[in-house]
Amino acid sequence: MADLSDLIAQLPKTELHIHIEGSLEPAMVMALAARNGVTLPYQSADELAALYDFDNLQSFLDLYYQATDVLQTEQDFFDLTWAYLERCAADRVVHTEIFFDPQSHTSRGVSFGSVIGGITAALAKGESELGISNQLIMCFLRHLPEEDALATWAMAQPYLAQIAGVGLDSSEHGFPPELFQRVFAKAKAAGLKCVAHAGEEGPAEYIEQALDLLHVDRIDHGVRITESEALMTRAVDDNMALTVCPLSNVRLCVYPNMADHPLLALLDRGLRVMINSDDPAYFGGYLNRNYAAVAEALQPTAAQLIQLVKNSFLASFLPAEQQQHWLAEVDRISASLS
Ligand code: ADE
Ligand code: ZN
Repeated sequence: MADLSDLIAQLPKTELHIHIEGSLEPAMVMALAARNGVTLPYQSADELAALYDFDNLQSFLDLYYQATDVLQTEQDFFDLTWAYLERCAADRVVHTEIFFDPQSHTSRGVSFGSVIGGITAALAKGESELGISNQLIMCFLRHLPEEDALATWAMAQPYLAQIAGVGLDSSEHGFPPELFQRVFAKAKAAGLKCVAHAGEEGPAEYIEQALDLLHVDRIDHGVRITESEALMTRAVDDNMALTVCPLSNVRLCVYPNMADHPLLALLDRGLRVMINSDDPAYFGGYLNRNYAAVAEALQPTAAQLIQLVKNSFLASFLPAEQQQHWLAEVDRISASLS
């Protein structure tokens, strides 16, 4: 059978759960702060990186939102996205579905147009120069009222052709999906895909709400589905994908060690799970580092690893014929390595 590290390096892959603001590396935080004249409470990239020792989701989010203050111009969003796409190329990521959080920028006076203009210009260059296809998913911040999300939805109207879907992120405890039914109904009616973070730190009941009340096409994280046998059966029956983020779950203390992660148990239970990086600048690495960490701690078989990669295509919003093209490539390359 093929060596796992060869498979990880050589198989084409998709990434379905990446917050573009979570790819803001400490060195870029410092460079953009200097470029934009922003004063930060840390003096160097090393000093900032030393703070990346999180107890839970909120302790991460506090730092993450503070760092995003350095993102101010369209060029900043272009540079951020381009740096991520270069990492994708290095990791053989051929398709990526990117989250962005407009509210964390528009609330600081940055225009919606600057945010989406910079991101989409880099994505277009990534498609033409690196051959990486993409979809853009606009997330609503769930710690803010639904009225804020509705105002953001209104702001997004001129740009809907560039937005494939909407998502729900930020602090989970106390902010259940049921609070966002109106804005998700509007997005669904406009023909957008819907996804939501659920069951990362919050209970399995939030996954159920995301399915029943927001009518999502995928669940982001969703690992606490392990607490409900009935929900696992439902997800298997409906081919409901969970965009799992292994390094994130360990760094945010959802699991004490990677060895405790239920990824392979979920895979073997028949769930459509795959590997993603979430916020790679904060959690120890980009997509292939996540695959490597899983390979080391959980020791999947080559067949399990290949299924995780295939699930990343099957759960993507790529048209069926492109999914089939990449699935055939995965088979061809795996066969050549075995
Ligand atoms: N925003 C960025 N990363 C997130 C995560 N892991 N959970 C919820 N919101 C987020
Ligand atoms: Zn996330």
